[in-house]
This record gives sequence, C-alpha cells and structure tokens, in this order.
Amino acid sequence: MEKIRDRWGTRLGVILAVAGSAVGLGNFLRFPVQAAKNGGGAFMIPYFIALILIGIPMVWVEWTAGRFGGRYEHSSAPGIFHSLWRKNRFIKYFGIAGIFGPFLIYMYYVYIESWCLAYSFYSITGKLSEITSSEGFVHFLGNYQGVESPGVFAGSTAALVFFLITFIVNISVLRFGIKGGIEKLCNIALPLLMFFGVVLAVRVITLFAPDPLHPDWNSINGLGFLWNPDFSALKSAKVWLAAAGQIFFTLSVGMGVILTYASYLKKQDDVVLSGLTAASTNEFAEVVIGGSIVIPAAFIFFGPEQIVGIAESGAFNLGFVTMPQIFGKIPVGALFGFLWFFMLFLAGITSSISLAQPSIAFLEDEFNISRKKAVVIFAVTSFVLCLPAMLFLHRGVLDDLDFWGGSFFIVVGATLEIILLAWVFGIDKAWDEMHHGCQMRVPRIFRFIIKYITPTFLLLILGYWFYSDWWKVITMQGVPEENLPYVLVMRLVILAFLVLLGILVWLSWRKRKMETYY
Ligand code: ALA
Repeated sequence: MEKIRDRWGTRLGVILAVAGSAVGLGNFLRFPVQAAKNGGGAFMIPYFIALILIGIPMVWVEWTAGRFGGRYEHSSAPGIFHSLWRKNRFIKYFGIAGIFGPFLIYMYYVYIESWCLAYSFYSITGKLSEITSSEGFVHFLGNYQGVESPGVFAGSTAALVFFLITFIVNISVLRFGIKGGIEKLCNIALPLLMFFGVVLAVRVITLFAPDPLHPDWNSINGLGFLWNPDFSALKSAKVWLAAAGQIFFTLSVGMGVILTYASYLKKQDDVVLSGLTAASTNEFAEVVIGGSIVIPAAFIFFGPEQIVGIAESGAFNLGFVTMPQIFGKIPVGALFGFLWFFMLFLAGITSSISLAQPSIAFLEDEFNISRKKAVVIFAVTSFVLCLPAMLFLHRGVLDDLDFWGGSFFIVVGATLEIILLAWVFGIDKAWDEMHHGCQMRVPRIFRFIIKYITPTFLLLILGYWFYSDWWKVITMQGVPEENLPYVLVMRLVILAFLVLLGILVWLSWRKRKMETYY
C-alpha cells in the first residue's frame, strides 16, 4: 500500500521544530563551559566568524539538500545523498554519517536530559535547597550518577527512573510523527523554554553585586567577561576548533538532522528565510539568553578566576553544581532552580527527538515500513545502546561518544554535504534550488563562501585534526588505564553498529532494485 508522506503542518511549525532541534543542552550547558574554558571574550570572535563562514552556509546547504531529497521520498542522508548524485553507486554509503552521528549523540543526550528532569523535580520539592556546601552539591550529583564508585552503575534508582520517563516521553512524541508529534511538541516547548530563559536572564542581570567583599563581582562585569573582546586568542588553533565545534553542535548542522527535517517540506516552501530564522532563534537563545545566565551568575558569586576552574573541572559542573548553589543563595531560589532545570529539559527533548528522527525516517522510507514499526525498532535498539553511557559514565564512555558523535562525525558529515551540494551537484544548480520559493535572496557573497570558504574551513579543521590528534585518539592516549577496556568495548560496539547500517543501506537499495523501483 502506498504510504502518505508525513509533512509539516505550518511554516511556523517547521521553523520552531528546527529551532527546537538547535536550541538544546548545547546552548545552556556546553556554550558557557566552552566560552569560560577558552577565555570568555577571546572565544566570541572565532565563534561569530565560524557562525558566518560555516554555520549559516551549512544551514542553507542542509535545508536545500533536505528539501531536494524529500522530493524523491528520501528523508535521511543516504537517500538524500543518492538523490544529489544519482550516477554514483557509493555516495549513499557516505550518507550513513547522517544517521550514525545523531544516533551516537542520542545515546548519551537522553541520559543528560533526564538529569535535568530529575533536578527540576529536586528543585521544586526543596531537596536541593537542603544542601549547603559546594562539596554537598558535588556529592549529590556524583551519587545520583553513580560516578563515585567503581564497577557497574552504582547511581541512584532515581537516575534510572528519570531516564526511563525521559526515554518514554521521547518515544511517545516520535510515535505521533512529524506533524502530530514533533511539530506539536515544539510549538509549545520552544516558546515556553524561551520564556523561562528570559525570566532567568533578567533575574541574573538584576542580581548586581551581592557580595560586599567583591563589589566588582557584579552582573555588568560578568557580561563583560563574555563580551570584552580579546584579539590575542585569534592565534590559538585550540580556540578556533572549540568555537567551530560549538557552532556545529549548537546549530545541529553536519548531523543530518536538518536534512531530515527539511525533507518534509514541499518544493515551493521557502528554505532561505526559514533556515535563517531558525538559526537566528538558536543564536538568540545561546548568546543572549544562554550568555546571560550561567556565566554572569557564576561570575557574581564566584569571581572570574573560579569560573574557569569550575568549567575545567567537569563539563556539567557549571550547570549542575554551580547553578543550584547560586539558587540556594537567592530568594525563591527553589522556583528559579525549577525554571532552570525544566528549561534545560525542554531544550533537551526538542533536540533529542530530532536526533532520533533520521534513523526512524531511514527505516520508514528505505524499507517502506510503518512509522509505528520504525519507532519500535528504534526504541528497542536505542534503549540498549543508551545503557552504556548510563552504566559506565564514570568510565569515560559518555566522553568518548561525545567526541565521535558530537565532534568528529559532525565535521565529516558537514564536509561531505557541502562538497556534494556545491561541487558535485554544482553551485549553479544548488543556488537555483536554494532560491525556489524563497522569501529572501541569499547575499551573493555566500555563493563564493559556500563554494570555496566553508569547504576549505572544514577541510582545514579535519586536516588539523588528522595531523595533530588522530593517532592519539585511535590509541586512546589520555584515557585512564582502568577505563581502557570500557572505552574499547564501546568503540567496537559502535563500529559494529556502523557496519550494520552499511548492510542495511545495501539491503534497502537491493530491494528497491529488485522491485525495479529505481
Ligand atoms: N543542537 C543541539 C544542542 O545544542 C544538539 O544541544
């Protein structure tokens, strides 16, 4: 039976869904840590350059390629790549990066998302306000996650329960599809989380200088930490890499997620203005809202030196240790704590559903199965593969997954996408395709940027990585000895998963060929 293709209900719906995918834990947890570790104002210059030269061009590339592939009933990268280069038999296999990458992120993202739900519950019920010292918060988090004890998971039962709730909510939304599930959730969750974010930002900015011993630890100087430019950092390759990495992660580009979402558009739907609107919404959430909460708050209560120390001491310390401590010191802190963590949860869920959708779309389109079946297969597989990040968090498994999914495959995916669209499909055709039904024209300079600058920038990042790091990463240098077996097994598991995806792509095309569908 011919399936009816799922579509977005409204233009605002798709913009909110893509913005929902972009606005995530990356905006409120990852961004402040990256900014603090890389010198605050020093980080922001490469950040904005990367936004203009990589982020925005990639947004347009993905919206355009995705809508194009959708016309041929493909909603995941293997099929979309195949639509762009029909003569090549192998290109679909490269598209696996657009399913594998987001899946790897999903494997740990949902777990972190569940901490946010748990902490919002602990805030509103007053459990967090009972803790009085910094060490208390560190232990609370450690016990919750089970990182303080050796062996398999020794965290709290609550961590398992909140993970299950979060997982089930994700799967339930996905079950209802694009228009009935993803779009509906984002229509409510995104405006709500933005509202919570603005309330929190206003609260932080109006804290002034609560510590009489340090009158210069105030919100203005806190903002200055992020916004006073420091040009010296432009010479540091590390800061450039961190800034470019943050742009990829936060905009959800290079993952294959926007490709998939855009494939549910119609041929005449605008991609230029919609893409820009979604990306701008994300940047507003990241630099304006995100930049006005954690960094200034931590600055006001702990001063400039300690922020860097806290950020370096653990990726989650600013969000899960420092922020609750601060809420403990302000009036109605329990409510603000709830707003903070529930905002994170909403930001997380609108992103995690987008990370799941490429896999589901792949099963639905390429194997012609129902959404229900595709969601069940995804749910079972992802549940099993989410367990290692949870059970072996303290063994560095999550960090390793984050490197492969949240850094490496994003850059590989983006490089493939832009070369395919701008060089193989051709910039002339791509430019025309991009402007079908457009509500604004892309400034002509971006034709040059998309063809030359962005790919060069991406190849430089990959080249630099291969030159300086690949051997260290492959041989797991820097991984503590006791963690080596865990990280190794995890890598073998994801490698097996990658091979399985390759086989599935092969099988699906073989099936189509036999049906003389193609
Ligand atoms: N773009 C999503 C985030 O920032 C993945 O969390």
